[in-house]
Amino acid sequence: MTTRHLLADDDLTPHEQSGVLDLAQRLKAERHARQPLAGPQAVALIFDKPTLRTQLSFAAGVAELGGHPVSVDGALAQIGTRESVADVARVVGRQVSAIVWRTHGQDRLEELAAHVDVPVVNALTDEYHPCQLLADLLTIREHKGGTTGRTLAYVGDGANNMAHSYLLACATAGMHVRIGTPGSHQPDGEILARARTIAAGQGGSVRITDDPVGAVTGADVVATDTWVSMGKEGEKGDRTGETSPFAPFAVTRELLGHAAGDAIVLHCLPAYRGLEIEAEVIDGDQSVVWDEAENRLHAQKALLTFLLTASS
Ligand code: NVA
Repeated sequence: MTTRHLLADDDLTPHEQSGVLDLAQRLKAERHARQPLAGPQAVALIFDKPTLRTQLSFAAGVAELGGHPVSVDGALAQIGTRESVADVARVVGRQVSAIVWRTHGQDRLEELAAHVDVPVVNALTDEYHPCQLLADLLTIREHKGGTTGRTLAYVGDGANNMAHSYLLACATAGMHVRIGTPGSHQPDGEILARARTIAAGQGGSVRITDDPVGAVTGADVVATDTWVSMGKEGEKGDRTGETSPFAPFAVTRELLGHAAGDAIVLHCLPAYRGLEIEAEVIDGDQSVVWDEAENRLHAQKALLTFLLTASS
């Protein structure tokens, strides 16, 4: 038996990613038709970090697929301290059909996946947020008619999970990805190398720059994320204060003015108006963040369907 996981964005080939997005579009169009997964399907949703969208969209999505979501509070489970990740994996993997886990280090997720034979889905780690990217790509398809050849500029913290996932998932989708970030917050070198290799094979490209205007000029999509990711709260003063290295990368009306006239704006949320994004931008005509948030549901239903089918 093969078990398929989504631990990082490039666990899906370009063909598979495109198939998941096709299915997501179909499930969205047929939202109220029954689309059951085969057999009874309990899915564990485990959260070691705060969540709103992810817990809700997975719970609703599993229910819409006819399955049963089981939420586990990571603070109670204390995975890795009360018992080892491997022992938790051996127990949980025998109770449910899939495991969705939001946690800290990617190594924890990989260890869990190594000890189960049901699909494991990365619901955000310090390194990646691949479910968000499936929703973002679905949103780009809807508003831009496709992903191939489109340019996405992500500006802000270039060393966080969203930057890494934009690099990998957009390269997989044949896009030109630009990351505008200060020299002090560069993406991980190994992830960047993977993204460049994927982009070369898909006709896309990857560019890292410390020039915010250069990053967004002519872009079809402008994306940003909080400057204070979960786990970085101790650096909040440096990251958001007057001398924040991210300040020039804030998505203001002025910066957005350098993008294509019909550019769309993405933000995975939660958003901090007046920091990484101006209120007039996120609440303005070019913002599609509410479609993006809704698309978590459709993209994840398609992903679970794909992983469970491909694993059996
Ligand atoms: N980079 C953010 C994403 C939140 C969805 C974080 O990790 O907190």
